Amino acid sequence: MNITFKDKVAIVTGGATGIGAAVVELLCKLGARVAILDRDQEHGQRLAERLNEQGECVSFYPCDVADAESVHTAADTTAQRYGALHVLVHSAGIQRYGDVVSTTLDVWHEVQRVHVDGCFHAVRYAVPHLMKAGGGSVVIVGSVQSMAAVGDSAAYVTAKHALLGLTRSIALDYARHGIRANCVMPGAVDTPMLRWAASLSPDPEAVLEGCRHAHPMGRIGRPEEIARAIAFLASDWASFVTGAALAVDGGMLVPAGGMSFQETGTGSVGKQ
Ligand SMILES: NC(=O)c1ccc[n+]([C@@H]2O[C@H](COP(=O)([O-])OP(=O)(O)OC[C@H]3O[C@@H](n4cnc5c(N)ncnc54)[C@H](O)[C@@H]3O)[C@@H](O)[C@H]2O)c1
Repeated sequence: MNITFKDKVAIVTGGATGIGAAVVELLCKLGARVAILDRDQEHGQRLAERLNEQGECVSFYPCDVADAESVHTAADTTAQRYGALHVLVHSAGIQRYGDVVSTTLDVWHEVQRVHVDGCFHAVRYAVPHLMKAGGGSVVIVGSVQSMAAVGDSAAYVTAKHALLGLTRSIALDYARHGIRANCVMPGAVDTPMLRWAASLSPDPEAVLEGCRHAHPMGRIGRPEEIARAIAFLASDWASFVTGAALAVDGGMLVPAGGMSFQETGTGSVGKQ
């Protein structure tokens, strides 16, 4: 049996670019009909048009996930249009930097609204449709920062930790309804978000090199590599997997003390 999404309908928030776009493309290839919910109309529409050239499989809904009503309408419209809803992937996200003092209240709330409220809205309005379909799968895109902290990222780290808690709550509350919920935790992935973050530095290439070096595999991930893990969790192949936190991070969470500790600290004691 191959992984298939034939006769399945999925919503992907944040599906216009990056990891979300790779998920949309893969689910489409595997037979799903997919609704993109994203506030980036230009890229969302362009992706939908490109994928629909090979057969009508994608629709785009301009949607701010922080706005409950726009998510509610898009979820109901998707289920109505395709007759059901089986999969929700929440990938919408933003990156902001600052410690708790330098992070303004506006930035703090913006980050929580997009990541945490946005995920809550998407799940809240998708779950009734998943229940109606007799079950389904929710995959939430967390981060290695759902389990570990990176400096100067208080709002983002808090939001990503919250998403893991939300994943586990959903897994527990809806297991008896045949709904699974899992969290994928990517390391650094080559997407517009990472490129934007690097561009904040006077030396973006040095930032990207630092990112590569932070992964034992010595490189940054590709969006398709995250999409494959998400598709697995969303599919029937993962039928007994729920409440899991799956790192897809080139080993980033493995080295105690980080890579420099392994190489130059006591992590490498005994190695000449
Ligand atoms: N790129 C990485 O290194 C990395 C690592 C770990 C986790 N992540 C997470 O992966 C997810 C996807 O990020 P990405 O790297 O693909 O970045 P990206 O910027 O390419 O994609 C994010 C998408 O979310 C959309 N979005 C943002 N705010 C929104 C809102 N309020 N409503 C609707 N859509 C909104 C954007 O328009 C964009 O299409 C995010 O949750 C991010 O935190 C990324």
